[in-house]
Amino acid sequence: MKNRIPSSATMLLTLIMTNTHVLAASQPWLDSDKSSDHRAKLLQQDLTLEEQIRRVHGEMAMPILGFTVPDGAIGSAGFVPADTTRGIPALQITDASLGVANPANVRPGDGGTPLPSGLSSAASWNPKVAYDGGQMIGHEAWSKGFNVMLAGGVNLARDPRNGRNFEYFGEDPLLAGTMAGENIKGIQSQHVLSTIKHFAMNDQETARMGMSAVIGERSLSESDLLAFQIAIERGQPGAVMCGYNRVNGIHACDNADLLQRILKDRWGYRGFVMSDWGSVHGVEAAMHGVDIEMGTQLDKWLFGDVFFEKPLLAKAEQDQVYRTRLGEMSQRVLRSMFDVGLFEHPPVKTPIDYAASKAVAQQAAEEGMVLLRNEKHALPLNGATKKILVVGGNADKGVLSAAGSSQVVEPEGAGLVIPTGGEGQFASLREMVWHRSSPLKALKEELPDAVITFNDGRNSGEAAALAKNADVVIVFATQWMMESYDTYDLELPSGQNGLIDALASANAKTIVVLETGGPISMPWLNKTAAVMQAWYPGAGGGKAIARTLTGKVNPSGRLPITFPADLKQLPRPVVPGFGGPENAKIDVDYNIEGADVGYKWFARKNINPLFPFGFGLSYTQFKYDGLKVEKTSPLTVSFNVTNIGKLTGQDVPQLYLTGMPGRAQQRLLGWNKIELRAGESRSITLQVDSRLLADFDVKAQRWSVAPGAYALGLGHSATEFVSQRHVDLPKQDFADPVVSR
Ligand code: BGC
Repeated sequence: MKNRIPSSATMLLTLIMTNTHVLAASQPWLDSDKSSDHRAKLLQQDLTLEEQIRRVHGEMAMPILGFTVPDGAIGSAGFVPADTTRGIPALQITDASLGVANPANVRPGDGGTPLPSGLSSAASWNPKVAYDGGQMIGHEAWSKGFNVMLAGGVNLARDPRNGRNFEYFGEDPLLAGTMAGENIKGIQSQHVLSTIKHFAMNDQETARMGMSAVIGERSLSESDLLAFQIAIERGQPGAVMCGYNRVNGIHACDNADLLQRILKDRWGYRGFVMSDWGSVHGVEAAMHGVDIEMGTQLDKWLFGDVFFEKPLLAKAEQDQVYRTRLGEMSQRVLRSMFDVGLFEHPPVKTPIDYAASKAVAQQAAEEGMVLLRNEKHALPLNGATKKILVVGGNADKGVLSAAGSSQVVEPEGAGLVIPTGGEGQFASLREMVWHRSSPLKALKEELPDAVITFNDGRNSGEAAALAKNADVVIVFATQWMMESYDTYDLELPSGQNGLIDALASANAKTIVVLETGGPISMPWLNKTAAVMQAWYPGAGGGKAIARTLTGKVNPSGRLPITFPADLKQLPRPVVPGFGGPENAKIDVDYNIEGADVGYKWFARKNINPLFPFGFGLSYTQFKYDGLKVEKTSPLTVSFNVTNIGKLTGQDVPQLYLTGMPGRAQQRLLGWNKIELRAGESRSITLQVDSRLLADFDVKAQRWSVAPGAYALGLGHSATEFVSQRHVDLPKQDFADPVVSR
């Protein structure tokens, strides 16, 4: 007779199936076959007002300024607790675009792999570099238990002195938007929700809490907002972070015009708006478009309350308008959590293959190296170079990084830390951190037959005396940057210009490697043999530098930001409000350049920069021909690229608009990064985003292409064109594309 009692395994299975069935019936939002919208709506309807309130505010989770880390938080930028009854996971939130941060060492000794700076990634002009970097840091975040990264900084570099340019992707909306979008896509591929930031016009750190960016809607739409729009379309970030600054007099996190009218209504953004830490000034921010208040201890400390807690609850209890809005806020948060897969793919603490991560960072750094000067083929270094003097930059210890919320420290700890001192809110963050990848060590590995000596460069006379006996001198120059501070000018600090000058006077074969947050001036340029911009090159930076100097890597980076010849060339020769308090209520007039940021300003003013946007040399050369424009919609442009040099290399042919009906107007329209062997040719086809041929018509709230002749230029940079074409376009008006899926 058959045993009719089920086995324990069958019993367990039956139990699980019954439970799942019961759960699916009672908690239908857990059914992943339903759309994110549907699931969020179902879940939202099940929440009481108090429970909705719990979804829309979160504390800071770092032990700074005397604040404690909330229970249940892993420790990093922020935390929103779980709702275990409903199966809603906690939000474990970490900074930022360059890797997993560990502020104030809140998770003792838990480092992450630092990517190169955003400007370095942008200099690769390779969307895959941004995607792979995002995927790597997203994976590390997930493996440490985080499901939100405050990543995808896309503020345009309107000022080369901006202390946070290193976190962003340069001065052009198409380039920055594309790269930020790919970065976000990579992060979210790991089921880590990415928060694009800082919306919008958070373009200088001086007076960052109080300054008002004064700019008209047309200029705004064609510049900084376009960068956000492109990045959101491409990356589909779950959240948008509103900035500290004001825009046209109103704080970005209170700015209904930006958050509601433009982001949510005009563009159709369906994710949620997250406040920056300490940027909600009152409960009305909820009515102005903010969906979640983060870093709440800071709001309480600075402005007196946690506004999206008791004050918002009180309003929602009394007022239907607030009640409806609260429902929408928590529903938006939940929708993005479903959409990015936070329910189905909760982070699992998993060992990380840091060697694999470092390889991703090194690859990015290699693609971001920009060779700015190479007289008489000084580079690559060859086997004949026997005596090399390496000077300065703590190149024996590692490569420099920049500070602030995006600071990442490697798992093994920093190679070198130099506190810079000072007082105030950010005093504890004011540390210069070198990642461990030493360029000196890497050069010795790449050139085992050379005699390589190091001099720290503190005494330029001593370094110059040693330089006389070297075949080649490689000097490392550094410029440290930090969130909340802009630089005063573009000078290399601490007498480094004098050092480079002395070295170049002593030895004509002086090669300068720059580890800087952005553009600097180069009074010694003409005396040097070569200059390579290495930015902050991240975890594999030393190796990337050595491999590029020695020709294992053929440099393929192109500048994502103009290097001015002189501060007088800038729309604002002095940083407005420099040296004043961070909450100073100043106006910064961005209508001066309007949408003509960076190279567009230089073209409009007809002035020559030190190095133009898009510029970068290679160890080989490329030729372009066969430029063809087809009047399709969108416009199709094709051309051929040939490697006419002797080495394999990657090139970045760039297509620009140079004139519109009735006016000269420069805009990057497209590019491609391709690798070609010596002698190889390839045909490239680009499709032009119609917004780049249009003006934004504020009155009609749509893009408008004027009928008439458009001039296009194909070239190596924003100032070096090899081929031009004209095309007549008919009038065309069109609305914004919808940014969210
Ligand atoms: C920064 C943000 C950062 C946040 C959380 C703020 O000071 O502006 O970029 O994500 O802190 O650390």
